[in-house]
Amino acid sequence: MQIIFETPRLMLREFTISDTGFIKELNSDPEVLKYLHEPLVETNGQALHVITNIILPQYKNKLGRWAIHTKNNNECIGWCGLKYLPESDETDLGYRLMQSFWGKGYATEAARHTLEYGFKMLHIKKITGRAHIENTASIKILEKIGMQFQKEEIVDACPVKTYTRNNPY
Ligand SMILES: CC(C)(COP(=O)(O)OP(=O)(O)OC[C@H]1O[C@@H](n2cnc3c(N)ncnc32)[C@H](O)[C@@H]1OP(=O)(O)O)[C@@H](O)C(=O)NCCC(=O)NCCS
Repeated sequence: MQIIFETPRLMLREFTISDTGFIKELNSDPEVLKYLHEPLVETNGQALHVITNIILPQYKNKLGRWAIHTKNNNECIGWCGLKYLPESDETDLGYRLMQSFWGKGYATEAARHTLEYGFKMLHIKKITGRAHIENTASIKILEKIGMQFQKEEIVDACPVKTYTRNNPY
């Protein structure tokens, strides 16, 4: 198992194809996908497709979406990570948790440390975060971890708020 880093309460690691069941569970919840421009995952085949075609290819440059585990009982609760967007030449910060783990500060903790990891370990110059204008929880996270609001724009037909932060180190 490729561990990326730990935080006080969490451990982040790379996904593998053995996470198919977890991705299906996460991406089949309409509440989880409410503000996201992507289809529900309803079968193990679709989940495997997400892992092999979307998640695993991102790991080639040390970036990617990493599975989050709680350290107290090793439960997998979601993902957080950095994704390179070639079309805009941006490194995007993203996070997604199973609904049963919302509201405990886990997403903020994972996002804060992911930002630090990107700046200190990967020497990324600028990190971008976007959230649907009504996704209050996600916008709060971006603001709490020190991202700066840039603008509202339409991306993939969704109205989003865009935040960025430059590498302070
Ligand atoms: C976005 C998401 C990761 C947030 O998870 P979370 O567990 O609520 O996050 P945290 O507990 O770390 O904190 C979120 C902050 O937003 C607040 N918040 C949560 N839900 C809220 C809501 N519906 N309205 C207003 N504020 C809300 C929390 O109180 C907290 O702020 P605080 O620390 O000042 O109290 C989670 O809702 C999720 O996985 N959503 C689906 C995927 C998604 O939308 N990802 C983001 C894409 S841009």
